[in-house]
Amino acid sequence: MGYSRFALLCGLACIFLALHSVSGDVSYSIPEEMKRGSVIGNIAKDLGLDLGRLSARKARIDTEDNNVQYSGVNLNTGDLIVQERIDREGLCAKKASCVLKQELVLENPLELHRISIRVQDINDNSPQFKEESLKFEIRESAVKGARFLLDEAHDGDIGENAVQGYSLEQNDHFKLNVNTKSGGRKYGELILDKELDREEKREIMLLLTAVDGGSPQRSGTVVIHVTVLDANDNVPVFSQTVYKASLPENAPLDTVVITVSATDADEGLNSEITYGFDHVSDENQVFSLNVKTGEVKVAGSIDYEKESAYEMQISAKDGLGLASYATLIIEITDMNDNAPVIYLKSLSNPIPENVPPGTEVGIINVQDRDSESNRQVRCSIQQGAPFKLVPSIKNYYSLVTTGHLDRELVSIYNITITAADEGSPPLSSSKTVELSVADINDNPPVFEEQSYSAYVAENNKPGSTLCSVTARDPDWRQNGTVIYSLLVGEVNGAPVSSYLSVNGDTGVIHAVRSFDYEQLRSFKVHVIARDNGSPPLSSNVTVSVFISDVNDNSPQILYPAPEGNSFMTELVPKAAHGGSLVSKVIAVDADSGQNAWLSYHIVKSTDPGLFTIGVHSGEIRTQRDISESDSMKQNLIVAVKDNGQPSLSATCSMYLLISDNLAEVPELKDISYDEKNSKLTSYLIIALVSVSTFFLTFIIIILGVRFCRRRKPRLLFDGAVAIPSAYLPPNYADVDGTGTLRSTYNYDAYLTTGSRTSDFKFVTSYNDNTLPADQTLRKSPTDFAAAFGDCDDSPKVGTVVTSRLPFYTLMIPPIPL
Ligand SMILES: *[C@@H]1O[C@H](CO)[C@@H](O)[C@H](O)[C@H]1NC(C)=O
Ligand SMILES: *[C@@H]1O[C@H](CO)[C@@H](O)[C@H](O)[C@H]1NC(C)=O
Ligand SMILES: *[C@@H]1O[C@H](CO)[C@@H](O)[C@H](O)[C@H]1NC(C)=O
Repeated sequence: MGYSRFALLCGLACIFLALHSVSGDVSYSIPEEMKRGSVIGNIAKDLGLDLGRLSARKARIDTEDNNVQYSGVNLNTGDLIVQERIDREGLCAKKASCVLKQELVLENPLELHRISIRVQDINDNSPQFKEESLKFEIRESAVKGARFLLDEAHDGDIGENAVQGYSLEQNDHFKLNVNTKSGGRKYGELILDKELDREEKREIMLLLTAVDGGSPQRSGTVVIHVTVLDANDNVPVFSQTVYKASLPENAPLDTVVITVSATDADEGLNSEITYGFDHVSDENQVFSLNVKTGEVKVAGSIDYEKESAYEMQISAKDGLGLASYATLIIEITDMNDNAPVIYLKSLSNPIPENVPPGTEVGIINVQDRDSESNRQVRCSIQQGAPFKLVPSIKNYYSLVTTGHLDRELVSIYNITITAADEGSPPLSSSKTVELSVADINDNPPVFEEQSYSAYVAENNKPGSTLCSVTARDPDWRQNGTVIYSLLVGEVNGAPVSSYLSVNGDTGVIHAVRSFDYEQLRSFKVHVIARDNGSPPLSSNVTVSVFISDVNDNSPQILYPAPEGNSFMTELVPKAAHGGSLVSKVIAVDADSGQNAWLSYHIVKSTDPGLFTIGVHSGEIRTQRDISESDSMKQNLIVAVKDNGQPSLSATCSMYLLISDNLAEVPELKDISYDEKNSKLTSYLIIALVSVSTFFLTFIIIILGVRFCRRRKPRLLFDGAVAIPSAYLPPNYADVDGTGTLRSTYNYDAYLTTGSRTSDFKFVTSYNDNTLPADQTLRKSPTDFAAAFGDCDDSPKVGTVVTSRLPFYTLMIPPIPL
């Protein structure tokens, strides 16, 4: 295997490169012993592959038996190059055809091309003789023409490069005859040309040269040593020229394969036959030949996969060196001694979970080194996993998905592939392929609840925690990382962010400001949960925030005006009976519920026994008939309390004047003893006028009633008090069913005139059976005119009676000043 000579040859030999491309397969022919890096051929061009994608598709060379990788592919040029020393003799010994099977594997999509590299012999081996010298003992009586078989010379090369001929050194006695055996092997025979004479020459030395047919030619020599003997003898004769035997592989050592025998007609020493192999070769290590008995026994391991048949030359020599030859052929029969081997040729790992069914994820190759049915392999895959094996080129299978994968359900598959041959008994093997499924952002975050509610008492601290939302996303890493945010929007015209904030990581929602129940009782925001994938997926949820009331508003007294500023005086007719409605304290509370449930109490009065106040109505009534002895000026201090915890209260003063006579009115000045400034005076005048008006009307009504022959009037100022609209608070909460005065229901503007101070609103009677809004009594001043015109029995003049309640409303038309 001379490298130096080979180098010279290489260029020439490369011409032998041949290319055959059959159905995706390609084959090349190269001389053995090419240098590493030498180009075998351009595989990309020969297979029509896109050169630019070779590297992306991870083009690589694989071997069929997972043996040495003799070739590789240059991803930049597409060249198939020599990667390891290719020694034909080492690979294929005497086989006439030496083919290296390699595979080109490409991924994306998986593709496989078979490459056959036919290795051509080069003449890198010289002919060699087994022994240093060939010894012959020949009787001088041997006749001219006697033949003596010479040992073959052996040459590792094949064909032309194997032994092609022999030449014998020039001499007086012998000629050389070269014969060809059935396999094309050449051997020589020594032919006696001139009789020997022991007395003349006892020993003859000859040089035999074997030459091969390579170029340049190589040769080997051996010395033939002939000893001339005295007597004559017979040649041993084999019983058969060819011995054939059959042996199962893996036969144990010392198994007798066959016994050969030869006979010699001579007597004594001359008939003692020794058997032997003709020349040195591997066969001699596998079998032994008993020199005496001719028994051929197993001496080494018999492996059908290594060698399926042996052919050997055996010789039988008698004591005088006369020999004859026979051929021994031993055929090995295959046993199923090789389990199939599963090779994973390619695997896309991990595979994204969104691959469609039918995607090829791997290539599997199954090999069984046995023959015939022993190498027929069936491949199967475990049930239950969404994969199947699709047979491809011989012994190749594609691993293909059969359904949709979902990493959130199964993230790793252990796929067990089993291969069984059809031998008897069959052998099988299995291989587990671990395949992981890569995440795709295919799940949006999902909130744990359909919607969230948060409850907070008003006047909360800014920054206080209201509630927290949680969304889950089963995807992996950032695809499953949830980030919370508020959906941009408005609450009451202000951006949502000025009300709430959400912690992006935890989903905890904080109040940004302090809430006021009286301003805002509830609102809704949307929280978005978004994952960190690309593109991200999101979902949203409604968070309702309910603000609850705190008793933070004191009752507000609408009538009479708050203490200190009030100089309004109610006139109480002297004739008023016990139980008559005198006036009414009207208060509101901006809170709601219990916090706005008001109760009225007289805390101080001039004559404690004279007036009472309705705890919830605020109506002030006489407790008994008024008597002459009662003081004309009565002063009450009324406290209004709500029902909150703790409760808040307000007080007011109420001035009552027991009189029937308007002329007494000026004395009112004495009642509002405190008032001194001019502004107050003008208010006083207004108050006086309104009281006068009230009184005048009162008188008119009494007169009217008397005129109509009525019994003594029982005037009940039931449930109607005029309240200047300026006293009304700007807005009220409308809360149901708590008995609270409800702004929308209970205030109705009746009359307006030019003067602000005479701008009145009437409040209908409040009691626990509050009238629904639409049933509130309404009368315009014209109705009064009608009433006066028609002073009939009922209804009473100047009063309006509801259909349901014994309830009188006194309407006072304004009198311009
Ligand atoms: C897959 O096999 C590996 C080891 O080969 C093992 O650790 C793992 O638990 C197996 N997984 C499943 C789902 O069987
Ligand atoms: C997230 O999903 C995208 C596709 O939607 C994928 O490319 C990426 O690898 C995934 N990330 C992780 C960490 O799995
Ligand atoms: C909120 O979710 C609903 C359905 O759940 C969807 O129709 C809507 O587009 C989402 N809004 C935003 C802003 O994401």
